[in-house]
Parts: sequence; C-alpha cells; structure tokens
Amino acid sequence: MKVLIFGSGGREHALAWSVKRSDRVTEVVCAPGNGGMAAVARCVPVDLKDLDEMVRIALAEQPSLTIVGPELPLSLGLVDALQQEGLRVFGPSRAAAMLETSKGFAKRFLQRHNIPTAKYAVCDSPAELEKAIEKFHPPIVVKADGLAAGKGVIICDSRRIAVEAAGGLFSGKLLGAAEQQVVIEEFLEGDEISFLCLSDGTHVAPLAPAQDHKRIGEGDTGPNTGGMGVYSTDTLLEPAMTEWILRHIAEPTIQGMAYEGNSFVGVLYIGLMMTARGPQVLEFNARFGDPETQAILMRLESPLVDALEACIDGRLAETSLQWAPGASACVVASSSGYPGSYKAGFPISGLDSAARVPGVQVFHSGSAAQGDRIVTAAGRVLGVTAVAESLEEALARAYQALDEIQFEGMYYRRDIGHRALKK
Ligand code: AMP
Ligand code: GLY
Repeated sequence: MKVLIFGSGGREHALAWSVKRSDRVTEVVCAPGNGGMAAVARCVPVDLKDLDEMVRIALAEQPSLTIVGPELPLSLGLVDALQQEGLRVFGPSRAAAMLETSKGFAKRFLQRHNIPTAKYAVCDSPAELEKAIEKFHPPIVVKADGLAAGKGVIICDSRRIAVEAAGGLFSGKLLGAAEQQVVIEEFLEGDEISFLCLSDGTHVAPLAPAQDHKRIGEGDTGPNTGGMGVYSTDTLLEPAMTEWILRHIAEPTIQGMAYEGNSFVGVLYIGLMMTARGPQVLEFNARFGDPETQAILMRLESPLVDALEACIDGRLAETSLQWAPGASACVVASSSGYPGSYKAGFPISGLDSAARVPGVQVFHSGSAAQGDRIVTAAGRVLGVTAVAESLEEALARAYQALDEIQFEGMYYRRDIGHRALKK
C-alpha cells in the first residue's frame, strides 16, 4: 500500500510513523512534509492552500489511501475533490468539516441535538451582539466563527471588553479577515480533555484520551499556542465517564450529522470541559489534534491503516483498537518568541541521541533539511514523545531526550502533565 499524507506538522509525522508500522504499507508520501519526516516518508512540495495543486499531486501519486491532516485543506473540500477522482480518502467532506470550520454551525448543531455545551448566542452584526450580551455575565467568551489557528477565542472580563473584542472580529482588525458571525459564550470552568474518536459515519471508536497544554508558560500562564505538550493515560477518564461521553456526546454528534445528510467520516476531535455539571463541548475539530496525535498514536498497538480503512468502508463496528496500557507524553520544543514572532533556520543537534532514549520518538513539527543538517523552520519545532508504563516514566523519558537536543532559542515547558501528577 502507498499512503499519501497531506500536512507538514508533528501530527503528520506521527501519522506517517504510525501507518509505516503496518506490514501492508510499503511507501508513505507526505505533501509537503518537513525535514524530519524525510526519515519515514518521501516529501513532495505542495501549497496546502491550493486545492488544484493538491488534487494534481494525489492524481500523480495514485495512493491506495490518502489522509488529510490539517483543517485548511478540509475546509477547501479536498476530501470531496479526491473522492470525485475515485481516490480513497480518510477525512470528512467539506460539509461535515463545518463542525470545525464554523463555530456558529457547531453551536446550533449542538443545541438542535441536545448535546451539552456552554450557553451561547450567534450574532450576525455588532448591533445584534450588543443586544444579546445583556443576557451574559462576565467572564464572557467571544469567538470568531471561522478558522483562526487558535487565535479566535477571547476571554473577556466585562461586557464592554467583550463588545470591543467582537467589534475587532467583525471589522477584521483582530484576525486580518472580517468575520460574518461572532459567537458569544458562557465561560466554563474545569479540566479540559481532548476526546478524539474515529467515525465511519455511523459508528464511533474512541481513541485514548489526552490532555493538551495550550498556554506557552509553565503553570498554564501566558498566551495560547497550538499546544505545548500533551499526555495520555488510562486514568484521565474513568470507563463510566468515557461511556457517558460516547452515549451523550460522540454518538449523538455522528448520528445528528448523518441525519442532517452530512455524514461525518474521519476523526472527530471533541474538546471537552469537565465542569461541575458534567462534560460540555467546548469545540469540535474535524481532524487529528496536534500534539495530541503524537502522544495518542504512540499508545496505539493495532494498525492505524486498518482502522482508517474501516472508517472509509463503513466497517468500524467490526474493528477494535488496542492500546498500550500506561501512559504517553509529548513535550513540544518551540522557537524563542513563539507564539509571537521568532527566528528560524537554526541547526538542531542531538536528534540521534535523543531518539536512542528507550520508548522515545522525536516527531518534527517545524523543521527543514539543509544539506545534511536539520534546521528549525517554525514556532513549534519538535514534539518529543515517549511511551511508558506510568506517566512519571513517560515524562522522565521525554525530558531525558530533550536534554540531548539543542538549538538556538529552544524553549519547552517543564511541567507537562502537572494536573495529573498533582492528583
Ligand atoms: P476553542 O477553539 O473553542 O476550543 O477555544 C480555545 C480555548 O479557549 C479552549 O481550549 C479553552 O481553553 C478556551 N475556551 C473556549 N471556550 C471556552 C468557554 N466557554 N469557557 C472557558 N474556556 C473556553
Ligand atoms: N491541540 C489542539 C488542536 O489540535 O487543535
């Protein structure tokens, strides 16, 4: 089998590493991939904003299976376009991906199907928002409707600040492009869980649960990032809680989408807040999480390709996923300055000795090959990931591997897993 993966981050590196573990997979091609992925895949350049170019590459490669990693190509309809060409693709259609690409759609969908989520209003204009906000008490969460690469959520301490933030979203001042809709939402308190599940459009298979660390600073301080580290353990969710989330959130979502004629085939990432009144949906993503995927796939013992093919063929109910008991953790090494501006192009050393630490895989998020060197190429550079029998051991292995690695301005959080370790 030849597998084509669209994307260039740590998530795609982990996907490539994981599909390569199956005997059935003979070749992995990543478009565009990155410097570190060249070890597991052939990388071909592509612009992930260019639908025609992506289709041309898939047609030229003729893969047996295509996996779409990031949200942007999903929002452009890459899955629909490749299916029209007769290719087998893992990922949701453009219409099904609206669970991620429009927060207004997602919130209304959740309400239609009686799935627990924060109280909200979807507003079409600043005037409508000013009226709706009277019913909300600070802190108030203001969200851009569309994709915003993690920058579209603003938590506001007063109505005035919320109105201002929404104004910035409507005008385009905040994100560069003007939003047609802005969502305001009640603020929820609790622990966040990334609950990912595979779906064939009818059935749902949960992946190992994970907890992300979105803030740049230790102790969960400072600005939001794409994710600075993540861990996955068996104890993150009790079996009864997993069952509850499946029955009341994951399954009704998949069934609701099918009922509305937008069958969701792919991986549904449910961002949950575990509140005092139970789990509430914060957001949906229509794709694997990054860095969740790095930690989750290192615990997956059954072949990933088989499970993805079962989704495409509508046979997920016959498939079971096996997980390594224990834990995994991924610590992200970023460029100094991220999530603000940063410099790139610095050589990375110590990758080989880091990879020799037992149970460790170094996934590259933003690196480039320069001759025989690997250099930094993005804000998030590496996801150093380890699997072990306990979370303490997985973290010790990841941090031991990080001790081996160096690049100018390298930064990472030393407190990944702190919530679990405190308990
Ligand atoms: P989202 O993209 O909707 O997941 O939002 C990004 C982050 O903002 C989440 O991971 C939460 O940490 C935070 N957030 C979003 N919505 C809420 C909410 N209603 N209450 C509290 N925090 C929120
Ligand atoms: N780690 C958060 C995300 O993938 O959206």
